[in-house]
Amino acid sequence: MITSNLDNAAQAFTPESLPDLDQLSALSATEAGFPDPVALARLANEFFTSVPTADLTGGAVAVPTDDAALLPSQPGLTSIAPVVTPVPLTSVPADVALPGVGTVSEPELAALPASLSSVPDTKAYGVPGGISAGDFSALPSFGFVDEARPLYGAIPAAAIPATPALETIKFPAETQVSTPAPLPGTIPTVNFPKPAEASAPQVSGVVAHDIQRGRPATYGFIDSVRSLEPVEVTPRLEPLVTSPAAGLVAAPFDLGAVRRDFPILQERVSGGKPLIWLDNAATTQKPQAVIDRLAFFYEHENSNVHRAAHELAARSTDAYEAARDKVAKFLNASSSSDIIFVRGATEGINLVAQSWGRRNIQQGDEIIVTWLEHHANIVPWQQLAAEKGARLRVAPVDDRGQILLDQYEALFTPRTRLVSLAHVSNALGTVTPAAEMVAIAHRHGAKVLVDGAQAVSHMPVDMQAMNPDFYVFSGHKVFGPTGIGAVYGKPEVLAETPPWQGGGNMIADVTFEKTVYQAAPARFEAGTGNIADAVGLGAAIDYINRLGMANIARYEYNLLLYGIEALQRIPGLHLIGTAREKASVLSFVLDGFTTEEVGKALSREGIAVRSGHHCAQPILRRFGLESTVRPSLAFYNTCEEIDALAATVWKLKSGRGSGL
Ligand code: ALA
Repeated sequence: MITSNLDNAAQAFTPESLPDLDQLSALSATEAGFPDPVALARLANEFFTSVPTADLTGGAVAVPTDDAALLPSQPGLTSIAPVVTPVPLTSVPADVALPGVGTVSEPELAALPASLSSVPDTKAYGVPGGISAGDFSALPSFGFVDEARPLYGAIPAAAIPATPALETIKFPAETQVSTPAPLPGTIPTVNFPKPAEASAPQVSGVVAHDIQRGRPATYGFIDSVRSLEPVEVTPRLEPLVTSPAAGLVAAPFDLGAVRRDFPILQERVSGGKPLIWLDNAATTQKPQAVIDRLAFFYEHENSNVHRAAHELAARSTDAYEAARDKVAKFLNASSSSDIIFVRGATEGINLVAQSWGRRNIQQGDEIIVTWLEHHANIVPWQQLAAEKGARLRVAPVDDRGQILLDQYEALFTPRTRLVSLAHVSNALGTVTPAAEMVAIAHRHGAKVLVDGAQAVSHMPVDMQAMNPDFYVFSGHKVFGPTGIGAVYGKPEVLAETPPWQGGGNMIADVTFEKTVYQAAPARFEAGTGNIADAVGLGAAIDYINRLGMANIARYEYNLLLYGIEALQRIPGLHLIGTAREKASVLSFVLDGFTTEEVGKALSREGIAVRSGHHCAQPILRRFGLESTVRPSLAFYNTCEEIDALAATVWKLKSGRGSGL
């Protein structure tokens, strides 16, 4: 449903006002007051198919941000009502006409019913202009969440510094980070504070509720709960420092538009609850641009690559290699030849273990991993060590989940051949000092693989600055499709690395006596690869680039601070992993409840988190645990969603949970 003002939006999303879905689905579209779905679907199809094509032109494209406005939708099914300001649809370039693609004409658009002929120009989730951080009466209601709002809402509005316009932000001198002068035609950069405080400037119109770090938690019902039981509160975290915050670009981040780009965020689950997707460390959701790009590939380009002279072979090869270029630029690799497509980070690590590793690791050699690793960065090295008679050594972490750098360096011996480390821990969110660890390893003559699976969706990643020998990531964790990922390899290292699988595509010449292999990257891509999903990954990278990774990092940083603040006020909740440099993971345990019970209680409210061992048993056992509850954030999450998370956990803990 598209509403035209804030009051309507708030009213439309009280649970009581939701229509009966069973009744709705029994009505025909016309009876339910919808326009003719066939005509709408045709218009929508024509309109959307222009998007990936427009992308392929490489030019700046005004992508329609309100796909939902053209799709037949069920009233009341939008998960979170944005603040909407009608903008005539005709302000969207309506007749984008590209080769082989239909156009949507002005008359066709004019024929759309009034309810669908405006685009909500959502600039604000959370506190829009003119509403104080303590006044939530006009915000979309989640019902039970309102009970938790005193957690944050009781902060006197006067105590909250006004959010300055972005251009006027001035950070304290000690927090200045030197930033490069903007290139002509680019958005100027601003220095970002580190560490950020509660008063850290927010991206205008984005962050809902300011955070009063250091303020004693003395709000309403929390105190009464605390008086009923021994108070056991996780020690307050020191302010976080996020290295990706350096050099952030200040540009508006239109969260409402961003959320509308992800169709699944409109989904209802658990008997009609709005989906709250906080399982981004397991996989991320896909924007419409990626979904459309996959369909476009199969509709217009599908062919094998590198193999034939026909036109579709050229189209698919171009699309596949363009995706490789995008990955190379995304990682700031020196060349697209440094990028090998694989199924994901796990396959990437196995590739390196089975190719570079089998050649270079011998009996008595040593491989260093860290205590933070995902099983995918432990098991392949154990297998290799067992095969070769090599030894695995483990760099320890402190009680906050931070690598102990001196003890890491003490592990090196003349037999150390390789270090394989996570850039970001999937279980704790720790951001490791990867560049420093790479430099230490190189000083000791070892090569380094960095597992970037949990990093690339949260922060800019730069192969030249980090200088690893290998870097791996998965497409599905960065808003792309499943089944595709990439290995970056330094050109000189790849040149001396043998292939790991044999087959077509990776050869230059084959006789029964001998095979001559291709150079990288083809040498490592035997057989037909996952062409369509590689192209989809390219579209995901385009999408991220349009948002700006620096904007994403900045927004998520504030969201993470907000989440920490919300969760650590809950009595009996213990955050696991409190590193100063941390990204988007809020692992916790709750006294008196199994992690499965918490996960189920959250699921009943439509909140998706992972509870379990997160394929990282050693690091959980380091903290004496077998499992945690792990909410994990992405740039499309909101403070309201974190409110819902905190409220549900709080209700469960305070004995008012549903059915436990
Ligand atoms: N590696 C993924 C996770 O951390 C599956 O959940």
